[in-house]
Amino acid sequence: MKVVAGNWKMNMNYKEASALFNSLNNRLINDVEVILCPPSIYLSEFSNKLKNVKLAAQNVSSFISGAYTGEVSAQMLKNIGVDYCLIGHSERRALFNETNEVINTKIHLLLENEISPIFCCGESLTDRESGVQNEIIHNQLELGMNGLDLTQLQNCIIAYEPVWAIGTGLTATSDQAQEMHFFIRNYLKKRFQIENEILSQIPILYGGSCNAENASEIFSKNDVNGGLIGGAALKEDTFSSIIQSF
Ligand code: 13P
Repeated sequence: MKVVAGNWKMNMNYKEASALFNSLNNRLINDVEVILCPPSIYLSEFSNKLKNVKLAAQNVSSFISGAYTGEVSAQMLKNIGVDYCLIGHSERRALFNETNEVINTKIHLLLENEISPIFCCGESLTDRESGVQNEIIHNQLELGMNGLDLTQLQNCIIAYEPVWAIGTGLTATSDQAQEMHFFIRNYLKKRFQIENEILSQIPILYGGSCNAENASEIFSKNDVNGGLIGGAALKEDTFSSIIQSF
């Protein structure tokens, strides 16, 4: 499956968000799963109009229900027709203290509610400079996906987002992306003892300063099945050309 997801983060007022959603949603897109991740306040309205795109939430509560002011549960997201949810984004890890254990709890809640997690992992610049990126990603996958079985894994999307490439304009080279995506796929193969055919169907997306200029080079790599796009997802023309970059 080819996937391009646009993570809008906390950007765009209602008018801008509606306009971008409507134009992407009305465009027939062959062969690529296009997932939009708008701020949660827009999800309910957009989900009533879905045609050619899918919706992802940017976050979900780690609690089932109850006295958790400000939180939105996995069941609520499912009720309004959300199919995906970002989990483990480096901004949530760094700014909202999300640990691998919290991320793991959220993944289980999402899967119980038939929402597919888009599981983000990525190393910091210091990690990469010290050459420990593989250990970091291994650890994030091991703890974040703890307790999942193969069927559950088949309902997940993985996104490799090196922290040093997010919003910096500093993209991983296509070879660096391929190397890490291969490492991740190999990890999944061993951990879940998956046959190659099923393994190749698990989407692994690249994220981090991916744009209309570099997407086709990155997407051309064997183990890169698409992208998780931040800044370049906020403009219709750049996001559309990324979708056409396969
Ligand atoms: P940028 O594309 O702006 O670097 O952001 C990537 C990202 O964090 C997507 O989740």
